[in-house]
Amino acid sequence: MNLLNSVDTSFFKQKGYIVIKNQINEEVIKKLHKNSKEIIKEAINIKWPHVKVYRDYPHFFGKPNIFGVDYPFNSLLGKNLFDVFNSLKIDNFIKQLGHFENFETELIRLHTNSNFFNYQGGWHRDYATFSSPGYLTCIIYLEDEKGFKIVTKEKNKLLIEYGIDTNSQSNLTVKDSFTDLPKNMYEVVDVNRGDILFFEPGLLHQGFCKKYRLHYHMRFKKLENGKTNHNKPFNFIKDFLPDTKIDENIGTYNYSKSLRSRIKRLRTFILYFFPRIKSLIYNIFAKKKKLSIFHSTIWQ
Ligand SMILES: [Fe+2]
Repeated sequence: MNLLNSVDTSFFKQKGYIVIKNQINEEVIKKLHKNSKEIIKEAINIKWPHVKVYRDYPHFFGKPNIFGVDYPFNSLLGKNLFDVFNSLKIDNFIKQLGHFENFETELIRLHTNSNFFNYQGGWHRDYATFSSPGYLTCIIYLEDEKGFKIVTKEKNKLLIEYGIDTNSQSNLTVKDSFTDLPKNMYEVVDVNRGDILFFEPGLLHQGFCKKYRLHYHMRFKKLENGKTNHNKPFNFIKDFLPDTKIDENIGTYNYSKSLRSRIKRLRTFILYFFPRIKSLIYNIFAKKKKLSIFHSTIWQ
């Protein structure tokens, strides 16, 4: 049985994150990569409404700027991915790091990014509070990726110096999320395909990419005693199983080609080529808390 050594577990205990290498067999990575690209292609083909588009640029070659595909195992998107995914043998790491005897997977999303557009998200927590007992997040990388930022466990308390709430996600303002924190406040996670990042979902973090990316984002939840994992290894909640019918109205992207949508997208596209003027002006008067001025632009 694969388990992490004590160096890795104490690193995770101190920092709240860890990257695990060489645990996915090359053949599985290749299959996952191929099937995942097919899922994204099919999502665009059938105008799958459950996609995430954070920067809605014009649809070049008929493609929206897809950032994530929800319900990636749904049989309307493809038939092969679910079985390949379930051949991943990482449940021991999940149990070990999360201190779970049993768990369920309450979220999975396939993340991607175009080869052309840069993307940088805002600082946020994936959980309501800094401490998230009973929950664990992971990212399974299918492409090399650079730039994911995380404020490690021991640095969290220093956020107060930048006026950022050290505990609650809902207290974060837009300015907090685009604060340009100094380099000593966070760690940058650079990874290779096949690596797996685990982190506590309550840690402040920020997505970053400047090229094509492909990874799975998952969140696990401890199951109380007595409830066992019937759907091994990941025990996905019902919505993520291949044959579940998804409510058409939940979190949907509007593929509209109306004149209004086209103008809005064109505006977003033009802004991509300029630094954030408002943040630039804010920074002139700001003392300690400076804002990022290049995020999600060509200058990033
Ligand atoms: Fe996140």
